[in-house]
Amino acid sequence: MNDSPMIIAIDGPAGSGKSTVARAVSERVGIPYLDTGAMYRSVAFAALRAGVDPEDAEQVSNLARELVLVMRPDGTVLVDGADATIEIRGPEVTRAVSIVAANPTVRSEMRSRQRQWAREQGGGVMEGRDIGTVVFPDARLKVYLDASPEIRAARRSKEVADLSYESVASDLARRDALDQNRAHDPLTVSEDACVIDTSHLSVEEIVDSILELLE
Ligand code: CDP
Repeated sequence: MNDSPMIIAIDGPAGSGKSTVARAVSERVGIPYLDTGAMYRSVAFAALRAGVDPEDAEQVSNLARELVLVMRPDGTVLVDGADATIEIRGPEVTRAVSIVAANPTVRSEMRSRQRQWAREQGGGVMEGRDIGTVVFPDARLKVYLDASPEIRAARRSKEVADLSYESVASDLARRDALDQNRAHDPLTVSEDACVIDTSHLSVEEIVDSILELLE
């Protein structure tokens, strides 16, 4: 009998389908969903808003420790009391986020908030880059979603209408490299994760395979 809260970890690079799939799994299983990428985006957003250079590790660390961050169940995000749901997806934040996320103090601060969130919720579907490897190494199920770089860029460029495919593709490649090669908690496949290549699968097919794995 396993009494620990049910954590489903969904990791993978940008455009692999994590958010859509994690939201759908959360609905089907009936447990809450947390987008941990939105937390790193919120730190980057707060730094830019305060005029802090994302590379300034000390100032960004201080800001992350003090940030009042509310991740609402409906997916909206409050940063220091103001709704930042739209702004954290903007191109400036996207450019800065992987630098901010490489900062070890920011990571340890966000990691403890993520664990606290899961304790309070009694479990959840947690989406990110290091959930199965670092945040919840004992997660009930670990899934790593992947897709070819071209397909990931094509999916993402459909979402951001004002950027060309080329600029989206080069941003993804740059972020992949930063996320995979950083010194702390890089994006990598956990040994015990189930890898799903989503390149040619529908959302329903991916969600069904995750639910099968869960059983
Ligand atoms: O939505 P998208 O896939 O573009 O990225 P995201 O999930 O919003 O994450 C944005 C960035 O946050 C990533 O490129 C990583 O640099 C960082 N991140 C991380 O380091 N660890 C996580 N658990 C989640 C995101």
